[in-house]
Amino acid sequence: NRKITIAIDGFSSTGKSTVAKQLAKELGYVYVDTGAMYRAVTLYALRKKFISENNFDVAGLIADLSLIKLKFIFNPEVGFGEMYLNGENVEKEIRQMQVSQYVSKIAAVPQVREMLVAQQQEMGREKGIVMDGRDIGTVVFPNAELKIFMTASARERAQRRFKELSERGEEVTYQQVLENVEERDLLDTTRKDSPLVKAEDAKEIDNSHLTLEGQFEKILELYDEAI
Ligand code: C5P
Repeated sequence: NRKITIAIDGFSSTGKSTVAKQLAKELGYVYVDTGAMYRAVTLYALRKKFISENNFDVAGLIADLSLIKLKFIFNPEVGFGEMYLNGENVEKEIRQMQVSQYVSKIAAVPQVREMLVAQQQEMGREKGIVMDGRDIGTVVFPNAELKIFMTASARERAQRRFKELSERGEEVTYQQVLENVEERDLLDTTRKDSPLVKAEDAKEIDNSHLTLEGQFEKILELYDEAI
């Protein structure tokens, strides 16, 4: 089988990453979670106090971009690459609510996008890649052979995210998670640079009422058509 590029885009908490990982494993492809990259830059900005509740020092962050080294290192125990920020494993920390709260603001900075998109394109140079994000089919790999756009209702997504965070012991309420999901939807779809939109040639999957197996089956069908 020839190797292709698979772009999976969609709103937050649609289960994109679950399905993308599963697909990469099935095909023996590399999986890249681009959200983790935006989250790692956000963590850096939070630590350096470039961003906080009432302040955003965009110029400070931009001046520091060349100091932010991101790397995915494959962890055989979990079966995918974990995010390293300047040599430190930040895979857990970047999933925390505090990072989620600021990430869409960081992701709206064109210089941040420019840097990360270039790194993502480099990772996909040899194809055989499943990449998930917001702009993969539109900006990063506009020529991807297979593009999938995942949607689900905000309530359904908030419910899933809430369950995930609670299981990890984070103290959040469903209402807070729903607000965060809705706020990120709004920021991600209305930003000037590379807003979240479905690529014209992407196949849409609404998984509000699909099981994981049902969803995966559908994606495998689309893969078979694309190959
Ligand atoms: O996928 P995840 O929910 O972890 O992404 C976190 C945030 O990173 C998104 O809400 C979005 O603001 C940003 N992002 C982006 N472009 C991508 C991936 C993520 O703007 N390709």
